Amino acid sequence: MDGWWQTGVVYQIYPRSYADSNGDGIGDLAGIAAHLDHLAGRPDSLGVDAIWLSPFYPSPDYDFGYDVADYVGVDPRFGSLADFERLVEACHARGLKVIIDLVLNHSSSEHPWFEASRASRSGPFADWYIWRDSPGRSLTGGRRRPNNWRSFFGGPGWEWDRAREQFYLHTFLPQQPDLNWRNPEVREALLGVVRTWLDRGVDGFRLDVFNTYFKDAQLRSNPWRLGGRGAWSWQRHIHDRDQPELRPLLMELRAIVDERPGRMTVGELFDDTLVDAAPLIAPRHLVFDWSLITVPWSAAAFKRAIVDRDAAFGSERWPANVLSNHDQPRHASRLAPLGGDATAVAEWDARAKVAATLLLTMRGTAFLYYGEEIALRNLSIPNAQAVDPPARRASFLFPWWNRDQARGPMSWSAGAGGGFSSGRPWLPLAPDAARRNVAVESADRGSVLNVYRQLLGLRRASPALQAGDQELADTGAADVLAYMRRTGESAAFVALNFASHPASVAVPAAPAGGDWQVRLSTTGRGLGENIAGTATLAPLEALVATT
Ligand code: GLC
Ligand code: CA
Repeated sequence: MDGWWQTGVVYQIYPRSYADSNGDGIGDLAGIAAHLDHLAGRPDSLGVDAIWLSPFYPSPDYDFGYDVADYVGVDPRFGSLADFERLVEACHARGLKVIIDLVLNHSSSEHPWFEASRASRSGPFADWYIWRDSPGRSLTGGRRRPNNWRSFFGGPGWEWDRAREQFYLHTFLPQQPDLNWRNPEVREALLGVVRTWLDRGVDGFRLDVFNTYFKDAQLRSNPWRLGGRGAWSWQRHIHDRDQPELRPLLMELRAIVDERPGRMTVGELFDDTLVDAAPLIAPRHLVFDWSLITVPWSAAAFKRAIVDRDAAFGSERWPANVLSNHDQPRHASRLAPLGGDATAVAEWDARAKVAATLLLTMRGTAFLYYGEEIALRNLSIPNAQAVDPPARRASFLFPWWNRDQARGPMSWSAGAGGGFSSGRPWLPLAPDAARRNVAVESADRGSVLNVYRQLLGLRRASPALQAGDQELADTGAADVLAYMRRTGESAAFVALNFASHPASVAVPAAPAGGDWQVRLSTTGRGLGENIAGTATLAPLEALVATT
């Protein structure tokens, strides 16, 4: 094992929604700094290894920070560069690493580079974005676009600019023009951004939609195909991403990052498959492949996801495990049973504990999304009231799940503002914030939060859980997912009962004639108990045993 990038657990913070220190309803860097005890450094902390901060750069917020207007600045709403430096120092003081989000496929249309680029076809920034003439008029008189590429956020991928009288490419919103990575000056400037943040002490980067940096040099149209709902799926996206130039760039970026030991990167795979992900994984560079993020509540479905990924990645490549993030439904909701009565709420949390056990014991680096440790759920916000920009463009041709729903304020305590803000939060608090919050769950030994704490502690103490090989176990029970993790002398056995009824499972023999001792059970089984032969799992019990 090479280091924390492989054995560690990373905690994603969406800064707008974590903690607001000045009452303007928007979370900020000082708010994060005030809550580090929750994350690391104390006996009752979660005990994560790193935080990943979603963008905090100056931004006009067409895509809530994923449209960057200054790559090396801090948006005043989040604080100052000094606040950022203080935050990094405070994290490092308690052994917590800091990963930041780099959005290098596109900038904001309000970035000075784009403003200069659109102002002149011959100035120094003319070629910093992807500009093309219109190939002429269509039969109906409209300007034809350079090719058939679409925007992932709905509509054509090309926007006409009246000043320059040319089209520019935007894979996302028109306010997010794609940078021209084929221009050596752009490459130098963006790699300079990487260097700047390394100099400021960050421990790694999450690379937004990194497989789309390069487009086909000739801008050929994508071939059409029979797709599903939404025009995006009617094309094979072979020319607007995944170009051969990506790997050499990645190697160059990696070499810069590797100049400082102990740094990592993780690339967000944009709309691709496991087969596309595999060759992009490298030492100290993970890829979010999304293979777990849409799996429904079923032992068989998770098993299939694991088998498929093993087949694509082999035993060498190290996976990144994610159940929730700022773009997808929160898994406490996604994996929940139908119905909202009292029993369903209990089952809901029981499932969240099983999911947590899976996430924190399976092979790979685990990524938590803020709030999942208290089983925070989706807010319910219809598209018509959305602030998420693509949700406001949603239509039949462009279906979209309103991401506001996964971005609700963190609930810290009961009372007004949920401990998130003394003002009016930018998104509503969860309806159950008075019951479901860090303070209340801390005091409840059987809470989801305390299961996360135990799991993280167990993982830290077990080389097998941190770094071991993984072998699926056949327990003979269809609703149980089970596997063994093993490295050197250390071994662990994990069994997850997805059913609401008991399950009898065949326990594989412990290696080297050892005994399996229960270290964790989400349903209160006695710790230290030996299991062998056949064991009966309680309904929705997740169990971890080690030798
Ligand atoms: C990534 C981000 C998402 C953003 C998009 C465009 O997918 O996770 O939030 O909207 O890139 O930058
Ligand atoms: Ca604030």
